[in-house]
Amino acid sequence: MENKWEHAVARFEEVIRRQQRRIEDMAAEGDFVDYGALPELVIGVCGGDGIGPAITAAARRVLAYLLRDETAAGRVRFADIEGLTIENRAARGQAIPDDVLAALKRCHVILKGPTTTPRAGDPWPNIESANVAMRKELDLFANVRPVKVPAEGIDWLFFRENTEGAYAVGSLGVDVSDDLAVDFTVTTTGGTERIVRLAFETARRTGRTRVTAVTKANVIKTTDGKFLKIAARIAREYPEIRFDDWYIDIMTAKLVDAKRRRDFQIMVLPNLYGDILTDEAAEFQGGVGTAGSANIGKRYAMFEAIHGSAPRMVAEGRAQYADPSSMLRATVMLLEHIGRTGAAGLLERALDRCLYEEKKFTVTGRDTGATCERFADYVMETVDALSR
Ligand code: IPM
Ligand code: MG
Repeated sequence: MENKWEHAVARFEEVIRRQQRRIEDMAAEGDFVDYGALPELVIGVCGGDGIGPAITAAARRVLAYLLRDETAAGRVRFADIEGLTIENRAARGQAIPDDVLAALKRCHVILKGPTTTPRAGDPWPNIESANVAMRKELDLFANVRPVKVPAEGIDWLFFRENTEGAYAVGSLGVDVSDDLAVDFTVTTTGGTERIVRLAFETARRTGRTRVTAVTKANVIKTTDGKFLKIAARIAREYPEIRFDDWYIDIMTAKLVDAKRRRDFQIMVLPNLYGDILTDEAAEFQGGVGTAGSANIGKRYAMFEAIHGSAPRMVAEGRAQYADPSSMLRATVMLLEHIGRTGAAGLLERALDRCLYEEKKFTVTGRDTGATCERFADYVMETVDALSR
Protein backbone atom coordinates (compact mmCIF):
# COMPACT_ATOMS: atom_id res chain seq x y z
CA MET A 1 0.00 0.00 0.00
CA GLU A 2 2.66 2.46 1.13
CA ASN A 3 4.54 1.77 -2.10
CA LYS A 4 1.57 2.50 -4.32
CA TRP A 5 0.94 5.78 -2.52
CA GLU A 6 4.52 6.80 -3.05
CA HIS A 7 4.20 5.88 -6.70
CA ALA A 8 1.04 7.98 -7.00
CA VAL A 9 2.60 10.97 -5.30
CA ALA A 10 5.71 10.66 -7.48
CA ARG A 11 3.52 10.55 -10.59
CA PHE A 12 1.66 13.64 -9.48
CA GLU A 13 4.97 15.41 -8.99
CA GLU A 14 6.10 14.36 -12.47
CA VAL A 15 2.85 15.65 -13.99
CA ILE A 16 3.31 19.02 -12.32
CA ARG A 17 6.95 19.29 -13.38
CA ARG A 18 6.07 18.51 -17.00
CA GLN A 19 3.31 21.09 -17.03
CA GLN A 20 5.67 23.65 -15.52
CA ARG A 21 8.07 22.98 -18.40
CA ARG A 22 5.20 23.47 -20.84
CA ILE A 23 4.45 26.84 -19.30
CA GLU A 24 8.06 27.87 -19.82
CA ASP A 25 8.05 26.63 -23.44
CA MET A 26 4.82 28.47 -24.14
CA ALA A 27 6.25 31.70 -22.77
CA ALA A 28 9.22 31.33 -25.13
CA GLU A 29 7.24 30.56 -28.28
CA GLY A 30 7.31 33.08 -31.10
CA ASP A 31 4.48 34.46 -33.19
CA PHE A 32 2.48 32.67 -35.90
CA VAL A 33 4.48 31.66 -38.98
CA ASP A 34 3.58 33.71 -42.05
CA TYR A 35 3.01 30.91 -44.57
CA GLY A 36 2.56 33.34 -47.43
CA ALA A 37 6.13 34.54 -46.99
CA LEU A 38 7.81 31.12 -47.25
CA PRO A 39 9.74 30.49 -50.48
CA GLU A 40 8.63 26.84 -50.41
CA LEU A 41 5.71 25.57 -48.39
CA VAL A 42 5.77 21.88 -47.46
CA ILE A 43 2.45 20.09 -47.05
CA GLY A 44 2.76 16.77 -45.25
CA VAL A 45 0.13 14.13 -45.96
CA CYS A 46 -0.44 11.10 -43.78
CA GLY A 47 -3.32 8.79 -44.43
CA GLY A 48 -3.62 7.23 -40.97
CA ASP A 49 -5.49 3.93 -40.82
CA GLY A 50 -8.97 2.46 -41.14
CA ILE A 51 -10.86 4.55 -43.71
CA GLY A 52 -8.09 7.18 -43.34
CA PRO A 53 -6.00 6.30 -46.41
CA ALA A 54 -9.05 6.24 -48.71
CA ILE A 55 -10.55 9.58 -47.67
CA THR A 56 -7.13 11.25 -47.35
CA ALA A 57 -6.11 10.16 -50.85
CA ALA A 58 -9.30 11.74 -52.19
CA ALA A 59 -8.63 15.02 -50.39
CA ARG A 60 -4.96 15.00 -51.40
CA ARG A 61 -5.90 14.67 -55.07
CA VAL A 62 -8.24 17.64 -54.84
CA LEU A 63 -5.66 19.70 -52.95
CA ALA A 64 -2.91 18.86 -55.45
CA TYR A 65 -5.27 19.81 -58.27
CA LEU A 66 -6.02 23.19 -56.74
CA LEU A 67 -2.34 23.88 -56.10
CA ARG A 68 -1.01 22.43 -59.37
CA ASP A 69 0.42 25.72 -60.63
CA GLU A 70 2.18 26.46 -57.36
CA THR A 71 3.59 22.94 -57.20
CA ALA A 72 4.89 23.25 -60.76
CA ALA A 73 6.49 26.58 -59.87
CA GLY A 74 8.19 25.06 -56.80
CA ARG A 75 6.34 27.21 -54.29
CA VAL A 76 4.51 24.23 -52.79
CA ARG A 77 5.79 20.70 -52.19
CA PHE A 78 3.93 17.63 -50.98
CA ALA A 79 5.60 15.21 -48.55
CA ASP A 80 3.88 11.84 -48.16
CA ILE A 81 4.47 10.43 -44.72
CA GLU A 82 4.01 6.71 -44.10
CA GLY A 83 3.92 4.89 -40.81
CA LEU A 84 1.16 6.56 -38.83
CA THR A 85 -0.85 3.33 -38.98
CA ILE A 86 -2.09 1.53 -35.91
CA GLU A 87 -0.01 -1.52 -36.91
CA ASN A 88 3.23 0.47 -36.98
CA ARG A 89 2.40 2.48 -33.88
CA ALA A 90 1.56 -0.70 -31.98
CA ALA A 91 4.70 -2.50 -33.20
CA ARG A 92 6.87 0.44 -32.13
CA GLY A 93 4.96 1.01 -28.90
CA GLN A 94 4.76 4.74 -29.65
CA ALA A 95 1.82 7.08 -30.22
CA ILE A 96 3.87 8.61 -33.05
CA PRO A 97 7.01 6.66 -34.02
CA ASP A 98 10.15 8.84 -33.82
CA ASP A 99 10.87 8.82 -37.56
CA VAL A 100 7.26 9.78 -38.34
CA LEU A 101 7.43 12.65 -35.87
CA ALA A 102 10.69 13.85 -37.40
CA ALA A 103 9.10 13.75 -40.87
CA LEU A 104 6.07 15.70 -39.60
CA LYS A 105 8.35 18.35 -38.17
CA ARG A 106 9.93 18.86 -41.59
CA CYS A 107 6.54 20.08 -42.89
CA HIS A 108 4.74 23.36 -42.34
CA VAL A 109 1.19 22.09 -42.49
CA ILE A 110 -0.18 18.57 -42.42
CA LEU A 111 -3.24 16.89 -43.89
CA LYS A 112 -3.92 13.91 -41.66
CA GLY A 113 -6.39 11.04 -41.99
CA PRO A 114 -8.07 9.47 -38.97
CA THR A 115 -5.98 7.20 -36.78
CA THR A 116 -7.27 4.42 -34.56
CA THR A 117 -7.14 5.26 -30.87
CA PRO A 118 -6.72 2.09 -28.79
CA ARG A 119 -8.50 1.54 -25.52
CA ALA A 120 -8.16 -1.12 -22.86
CA GLY A 121 -9.29 -4.52 -24.16
CA ASP A 122 -8.42 -3.83 -27.81
CA PRO A 123 -6.10 -6.17 -29.69
CA TRP A 124 -3.62 -3.24 -29.67
CA PRO A 125 -1.47 -2.10 -26.78
CA ASN A 126 -3.23 0.73 -24.98
CA ILE A 127 -0.93 3.47 -26.30
CA GLU A 128 -1.77 7.17 -26.40
CA SER A 129 -3.90 8.49 -29.27
CA ALA A 130 -1.85 9.65 -32.27
CA ASN A 131 -4.09 12.72 -32.62
CA VAL A 132 -3.62 13.75 -29.04
CA ALA A 133 0.14 13.11 -29.21
CA MET A 134 0.48 15.15 -32.41
CA ARG A 135 -1.47 18.05 -30.95
CA LYS A 136 0.84 18.07 -27.95
CA GLU A 137 4.12 17.42 -29.81
CA LEU A 138 3.50 20.16 -32.38
CA ASP A 139 1.78 22.40 -29.83
CA LEU A 140 -1.39 22.68 -31.93
CA PHE A 141 -3.28 24.52 -29.24
CA ALA A 142 -6.42 25.53 -31.11
CA ASN A 143 -8.82 23.01 -32.54
CA VAL A 144 -11.05 25.09 -34.78
CA ARG A 145 -14.25 23.40 -35.94
CA PRO A 146 -16.86 25.13 -38.08
CA VAL A 147 -20.43 23.85 -38.34
CA LYS A 148 -22.91 25.41 -40.76
CA VAL A 149 -26.52 24.66 -41.57
CA PRO A 150 -27.58 27.66 -43.67
CA ALA A 151 -31.22 26.58 -43.89
CA GLU A 152 -31.46 26.65 -40.08
CA GLY A 153 -29.44 29.81 -39.64
CA ILE A 154 -26.64 27.86 -37.93
CA ASP A 155 -23.13 29.23 -38.40
CA TRP A 156 -20.95 28.14 -35.50
CA LEU A 157 -17.21 28.23 -35.00
CA PHE A 158 -15.84 26.24 -32.10
CA PHE A 159 -12.45 26.96 -30.54
CA ARG A 160 -11.60 23.83 -28.62
CA GLU A 161 -8.50 24.11 -26.43
CA ASN A 162 -6.35 21.28 -27.75
CA THR A 163 -3.35 20.70 -25.49
CA GLU A 164 -4.66 20.93 -21.93
CA GLY A 165 -7.71 20.01 -19.86
CA ALA A 166 -8.37 16.32 -19.32
CA TYR A 167 -6.32 15.48 -22.43
CA ALA A 168 -3.04 17.03 -21.28
CA VAL A 169 -2.28 14.12 -19.01
CA GLY A 170 -4.97 11.69 -20.11
CA SER A 171 -2.43 8.89 -20.45
CA LEU A 172 -0.67 9.67 -17.16
CA GLY A 173 -3.36 8.88 -14.62
CA VAL A 174 -2.58 6.54 -11.73
CA ASP A 175 -4.15 3.41 -10.39
CA VAL A 176 -3.36 4.30 -6.81
CA SER A 177 -4.73 0.98 -5.59
CA ASP A 178 -7.09 -1.71 -6.88
CA ASP A 179 -9.94 0.49 -5.69
CA LEU A 180 -8.75 3.96 -6.59
CA ALA A 181 -7.94 5.51 -9.96
CA VAL A 182 -7.03 9.16 -10.44
CA ASP A 183 -6.66 11.24 -13.61
CA PHE A 184 -5.45 14.78 -13.91
CA THR A 185 -6.80 17.83 -15.65
CA VAL A 186 -4.79 20.95 -16.33
CA THR A 187 -5.47 24.62 -17.03
CA THR A 188 -2.64 27.09 -17.49
CA THR A 189 -2.83 30.85 -17.80
CA GLY A 190 -0.83 30.96 -21.04
CA GLY A 191 -2.71 28.04 -22.54
CA THR A 192 -6.08 29.62 -21.83
CA GLU A 193 -5.07 33.11 -22.90
CA ARG A 194 -3.87 31.98 -26.30
CA ILE A 195 -7.02 30.03 -27.21
CA VAL A 196 -9.39 32.70 -25.92
CA ARG A 197 -7.46 35.44 -27.69
CA LEU A 198 -7.54 33.51 -30.97
CA ALA A 199 -11.32 33.15 -30.60
CA PHE A 200 -11.78 36.89 -30.06
CA GLU A 201 -9.30 37.85 -32.79
CA THR A 202 -11.17 35.61 -35.22
CA ALA A 203 -14.47 37.18 -34.17
CA ARG A 204 -13.03 40.62 -34.84
CA ARG A 205 -11.46 39.64 -38.18
CA THR A 206 -14.59 37.91 -39.48
CA GLY A 207 -17.12 40.44 -38.20
CA ARG A 208 -18.70 38.12 -35.68
CA THR A 209 -20.29 39.78 -32.69
CA ARG A 210 -20.50 37.18 -29.96
CA VAL A 211 -18.10 34.84 -28.16
CA THR A 212 -19.40 32.29 -25.67
CA ALA A 213 -17.23 30.43 -23.16
CA VAL A 214 -18.42 26.96 -22.18
CA THR A 215 -17.22 25.37 -18.95
CA LYS A 216 -18.46 23.63 -15.82
CA ALA A 217 -16.91 26.23 -13.56
CA ASN A 218 -19.61 25.85 -10.92
CA VAL A 219 -18.41 22.31 -10.15
CA ILE A 220 -14.89 21.97 -11.57
CA LYS A 221 -13.97 25.06 -9.69
CA THR A 222 -10.21 25.22 -10.01
CA THR A 223 -9.37 24.39 -13.62
CA ASP A 224 -12.65 25.38 -15.31
CA GLY A 225 -12.91 28.30 -12.90
CA LYS A 226 -9.55 29.54 -14.11
CA PHE A 227 -10.51 29.09 -17.77
CA LEU A 228 -13.66 31.15 -17.29
CA LYS A 229 -11.97 33.88 -15.27
CA ILE A 230 -9.33 34.34 -17.95
CA ALA A 231 -11.93 34.32 -20.73
CA ALA A 232 -13.89 37.06 -18.96
CA ARG A 233 -10.72 39.12 -18.46
CA ILE A 234 -9.69 38.88 -22.12
CA ALA A 235 -13.25 39.67 -23.23
CA ARG A 236 -12.85 43.13 -21.72
CA GLU A 237 -10.21 43.88 -24.38
CA TYR A 238 -12.89 43.40 -27.05
CA PRO A 239 -15.72 45.68 -25.97
CA GLU A 240 -17.41 45.53 -29.38
CA ILE A 241 -17.89 41.77 -29.02
CA ARG A 242 -20.55 40.40 -26.71
CA PHE A 243 -19.21 37.83 -24.26
CA ASP A 244 -21.25 35.36 -22.27
CA ASP A 245 -20.71 32.00 -20.64
CA TRP A 246 -22.70 28.81 -20.35
CA TYR A 247 -22.21 25.54 -18.55
CA ILE A 248 -21.57 22.54 -20.74
CA ASP A 249 -24.71 20.68 -19.69
CA ILE A 250 -27.16 23.43 -20.59
CA MET A 251 -25.09 24.31 -23.67
CA THR A 252 -25.50 20.73 -24.90
CA ALA A 253 -29.25 21.17 -24.44
CA LYS A 254 -29.35 24.61 -26.09
CA LEU A 255 -27.80 23.29 -29.28
CA VAL A 256 -30.99 21.27 -29.73
CA ASP A 257 -33.17 24.33 -29.10
CA ALA A 258 -34.01 25.51 -32.63
CA LYS A 259 -35.09 28.95 -31.40
CA ARG A 260 -31.93 29.73 -29.44
CA ARG A 261 -29.10 27.86 -31.13
CA ARG A 262 -28.79 30.14 -34.16
CA ASP A 263 -27.77 32.98 -31.82
CA PHE A 264 -24.47 31.35 -30.91
CA GLN A 265 -21.51 32.33 -33.06
CA ILE A 266 -18.10 31.52 -31.61
CA MET A 267 -17.68 29.11 -28.73
CA VAL A 268 -14.45 28.71 -26.81
CA LEU A 269 -14.09 25.78 -24.47
CA PRO A 270 -11.75 23.36 -22.69
CA ASN A 271 -10.59 20.25 -24.52
CA LEU A 272 -13.04 17.54 -23.40
CA TYR A 273 -16.15 19.71 -23.65
CA GLY A 274 -15.00 20.78 -27.09
CA ASP A 275 -14.59 17.16 -28.12
CA ILE A 276 -18.13 16.29 -27.07
CA LEU A 277 -19.96 19.43 -28.15
CA THR A 278 -18.46 19.45 -31.65
CA ASP A 279 -19.66 15.91 -32.36
CA GLU A 280 -23.15 16.97 -31.31
CA ALA A 281 -22.91 20.15 -33.40
CA ALA A 282 -21.69 18.26 -36.49
CA GLU A 283 -24.74 16.02 -36.30
CA PHE A 284 -26.99 18.94 -37.30
CA GLN A 285 -24.89 19.43 -40.41
CA GLY A 286 -25.15 15.82 -41.53
CA GLY A 287 -22.93 13.97 -39.08
CA VAL A 288 -19.27 13.83 -38.13
CA GLY A 289 -18.46 12.62 -41.66
CA THR A 290 -19.18 16.12 -42.93
CA ALA A 291 -17.02 18.07 -40.50
CA GLY A 292 -13.39 19.06 -40.82
CA SER A 293 -11.14 20.63 -38.26
CA ALA A 294 -8.01 22.74 -38.08
CA ASN A 295 -5.44 22.14 -35.36
CA ILE A 296 -3.53 25.39 -35.20
CA GLY A 297 -0.25 26.17 -33.53
CA LYS A 298 2.15 29.06 -33.91
CA ARG A 299 4.62 27.00 -35.91
CA TYR A 300 2.69 24.04 -37.34
CA ALA A 301 -0.88 23.33 -38.27
CA MET A 302 -2.65 20.06 -38.93
CA PHE A 303 -5.97 19.51 -40.69
CA GLU A 304 -8.14 16.48 -40.17
CA ALA A 305 -11.62 15.00 -39.98
CA ILE A 306 -13.35 15.30 -36.62
CA HIS A 307 -14.19 11.59 -36.62
CA GLY A 308 -12.31 8.35 -36.09
CA SER A 309 -11.01 5.65 -38.43
CA ALA A 310 -14.23 3.57 -38.67
CA PRO A 311 -12.57 0.12 -38.49
CA ARG A 312 -16.01 -1.46 -38.84
CA MET A 313 -16.38 -0.03 -42.34
CA VAL A 314 -13.01 -1.48 -43.27
CA ALA A 315 -13.89 -4.88 -41.79
CA GLU A 316 -17.07 -4.89 -43.86
CA GLY A 317 -15.12 -3.96 -47.02
CA ARG A 318 -16.68 -0.51 -47.33
CA ALA A 319 -13.63 1.76 -46.98
CA GLN A 320 -13.80 2.94 -50.59
CA TYR A 321 -17.37 4.15 -49.97
CA ALA A 322 -16.40 6.33 -47.00
CA ASP A 323 -17.41 9.97 -47.24
CA PRO A 324 -14.35 12.17 -47.84
CA SER A 325 -16.34 15.36 -47.09
CA SER A 326 -14.77 15.78 -43.66
CA MET A 327 -11.26 15.68 -45.17
CA LEU A 328 -12.32 17.98 -48.00
CA ARG A 329 -13.67 20.48 -45.47
CA ALA A 330 -10.36 20.16 -43.63
CA THR A 331 -8.66 20.90 -46.95
CA VAL A 332 -10.65 24.15 -47.24
CA MET A 333 -9.33 25.14 -43.83
CA LEU A 334 -5.77 24.21 -44.81
CA LEU A 335 -5.95 26.39 -47.91
CA GLU A 336 -7.33 29.28 -45.88
CA HIS A 337 -4.62 28.86 -43.28
CA ILE A 338 -1.81 29.04 -45.83
CA GLY A 339 -3.32 32.18 -47.29
CA ARG A 340 -4.64 30.57 -50.49
CA THR A 341 -8.05 32.12 -49.91
CA GLY A 342 -9.06 32.04 -53.58
CA ALA A 343 -8.59 28.28 -53.80
CA ALA A 344 -10.20 27.82 -50.37
CA GLY A 345 -13.31 29.74 -51.42
CA LEU A 346 -13.52 27.86 -54.69
CA LEU A 347 -13.31 24.47 -53.00
CA GLU A 348 -15.86 25.49 -50.39
CA ARG A 349 -18.31 26.62 -53.06
CA ALA A 350 -17.74 23.41 -55.01
CA LEU A 351 -18.39 21.28 -51.91
CA ASP A 352 -21.54 23.20 -51.08
CA ARG A 353 -22.78 22.70 -54.61
CA CYS A 354 -21.95 18.97 -54.65
CA LEU A 355 -23.34 18.31 -51.19
CA TYR A 356 -26.37 20.55 -50.91
CA GLU A 357 -27.41 21.78 -54.36
CA GLU A 358 -26.82 19.42 -57.27
CA LYS A 359 -26.18 16.21 -55.35
CA LYS A 360 -25.28 14.29 -58.51
CA PHE A 361 -23.21 11.85 -56.51
CA THR A 362 -23.82 11.14 -52.88
CA VAL A 363 -21.60 9.08 -50.67
CA THR A 364 -23.59 6.84 -48.38
CA GLY A 365 -20.83 4.77 -46.83
CA ARG A 366 -22.19 1.77 -48.75
CA ASP A 367 -22.16 0.53 -52.33
CA THR A 368 -25.49 2.28 -52.80
CA GLY A 369 -23.52 5.52 -53.05
CA ALA A 370 -20.53 6.84 -54.94
CA THR A 371 -16.99 5.83 -54.01
CA CYS A 372 -14.94 8.53 -52.35
CA GLU A 373 -12.79 8.59 -55.46
CA ARG A 374 -15.76 9.29 -57.71
CA PHE A 375 -16.89 11.98 -55.33
CA ALA A 376 -13.45 13.63 -55.46
CA ASP A 377 -13.65 13.62 -59.29
CA TYR A 378 -17.06 15.27 -59.05
CA VAL A 379 -15.67 17.94 -56.74
CA MET A 380 -12.83 18.67 -59.18
CA GLU A 381 -15.24 18.82 -62.12
CA THR A 382 -17.32 21.29 -60.11
CA VAL A 383 -14.23 23.34 -59.29
CA ASP A 384 -13.59 23.57 -63.04
CA ALA A 385 -17.19 24.49 -63.76
CA LEU A 386 -17.11 27.23 -61.13
CA SER A 387 -13.83 28.70 -62.35
CA ARG A 388 -14.98 28.94 -65.95
C1 IPM B 1 -11.48 14.20 -32.10
C2 IPM B 1 -11.40 12.74 -31.77
C3 IPM B 1 -10.14 12.50 -30.92
C4 IPM B 1 -10.27 13.30 -29.66
C5 IPM B 1 -9.87 11.03 -30.61
C6 IPM B 1 -9.78 10.20 -31.86
C7 IPM B 1 -8.65 10.85 -29.77
O1 IPM B 1 -12.53 12.32 -31.11
O2 IPM B 1 -10.59 14.71 -32.81
O3 IPM B 1 -12.42 14.85 -31.66
O4 IPM B 1 -10.82 12.82 -28.66
O5 IPM B 1 -9.82 14.45 -29.65
MG1 MG C 1 -14.04 13.78 -30.91
